[in-house]
Amino acid sequence: MPCCHADFAFTEDSDRAFCVGMPAFTFGAGCLAEAGEQARELGLKRVALFTDRWLRASQHVATVLSSLSAASVEVEVYDEVAVEPNTSSFKAAAAFAAEGRFDGYLSVGGGSVMDTCKAANLYATHPAEFMTYVNAPIGGGQKVPGPVKPHIACPTTAGTGSETTGIAIFNLSDINAKTGIISRRLVPTLALVDPSVTSTLPRNVVAASGFDCMSHALESLTARPWPRRLNPARGSSRPVSQGANPFSDALAAEALKGVGNYIIRAITDASDIEARTEMMYAAMLAGIAFNAAGCHLPHGLSYAVSGLVRNYHVPGYPEGKTLVPHGMAVVLNNPSVWRYTAACSPGRHTDAASNLGADIRGINPGDAEEAGEALSGRVIELMRAAGIPNGLSDLGFDANDVESLAAGAEPQWRVIRNAPKDVSRDDLKSLFRAAMKYW
Ligand SMILES: NC(=O)c1ccc[n+]([C@@H]2O[C@H](COP(=O)([O-])OP(=O)(O)OC[C@H]3O[C@@H](n4cnc5c(N)ncnc54)[C@H](O)[C@@H]3O)[C@@H](O)[C@H]2O)c1
Ligand SMILES: [Fe+2]
Repeated sequence: MPCCHADFAFTEDSDRAFCVGMPAFTFGAGCLAEAGEQARELGLKRVALFTDRWLRASQHVATVLSSLSAASVEVEVYDEVAVEPNTSSFKAAAAFAAEGRFDGYLSVGGGSVMDTCKAANLYATHPAEFMTYVNAPIGGGQKVPGPVKPHIACPTTAGTGSETTGIAIFNLSDINAKTGIISRRLVPTLALVDPSVTSTLPRNVVAASGFDCMSHALESLTARPWPRRLNPARGSSRPVSQGANPFSDALAAEALKGVGNYIIRAITDASDIEARTEMMYAAMLAGIAFNAAGCHLPHGLSYAVSGLVRNYHVPGYPEGKTLVPHGMAVVLNNPSVWRYTAACSPGRHTDAASNLGADIRGINPGDAEEAGEALSGRVIELMRAAGIPNGLSDLGFDANDVESLAAGAEPQWRVIRNAPKDVSRDDLKSLFRAAMKYW
């Protein structure tokens, strides 16, 4: 591998292998109605169905409930999931799961619902003080001690890819910073990925979650290459996310083609079944890719943005709550990051721009500045067509916030360290400054 992939050349300390765990999925319109028979196949008799209170009355939840009923699987519904979950919403879900003594779980919703279900399953199966499994150094970072109960994940947004990842993200209220729990054990047992559910998605949710998917793919491709991770003492202690690798590269490239061709159509026309289906597929591929490679700067910086925003609301998301949708916070940090990272792998940045639909004729793929401009230019073009705010200043941030934004990103070193180069506090400040306004 190193001989033909210059990006993946070994150093003396390199790990000599990377490993990928493949999730199981069923993809296709109508597959949500298979939930009952799939639950029965897994031997489940009594399950908890997680959703949020806006989706509770949806046709999607009704389809899953009637399918469970037809398969004689007993079910209790939990609809108190918080959109963009937090410490207390994770804890409440875990308490519900522990009390119910379920033998399996279904989640029907976006990343917020699927992540909450993963956490509830974990704490009900392996009870522990809440911070035990939360990522170090914020939490204890302890390994999940054994398998969790079966979980069938049914995504209703096209973006997070959470149906294929071992990741559960929440806002740790004590420090107002997003963090999560990561373990191979949390990868859902089966994903039922039914693109027809996206026909009811509000336009802004399609846009934010679609850009989340795009960023998962771009960050996978441009993450620190896997041989630059040190050789672990034991193979079994390799982390879930191991840096850019040939496998994640392939899926991420394919996901970017889908995003480049279909994201704007999917946002602007709810009846465009082809576009919404392709975005659902891209999100799933990008989920598998970033689970294996890891995210880096756009996600690391986004968590400071969503934690520090004041009085911001986007139609289509729950009323009465200050909230920058995850994918929006992520994409607002994209163009500035690509201009900064392009020097590490200009060819990868140029390829990514091309896969996203940029015209790269005339661009010298070895020239860092041209490569960074090609990728950030294409991302900005898509942001403008999608009606995304023009940088962090449109969210109410200004130059006086740069210091606190950089401090807010500090708890994210675990993610930021996966960037292709070492990043200082001053670099973080420059990146936030460069993300204030794009056009
Ligand atoms: N675990 C992972 O691997 C991973 C990856 C990326 C993001 N995330 C997390 O996922 C969360 C964001 O998830 P999301 O973007 O999927 O959105 P979401 O789950 O927060 O949902 C957003 C809104 O869309 C509504 N909605 C969802 N599906 C709908 C449908 N089909 N029709 C109508 N309305 C619908 C919801 O009710 C909610 O109001 C964040 O907390 C983020 O940090 C997790
Ligand atoms: Fe994300």
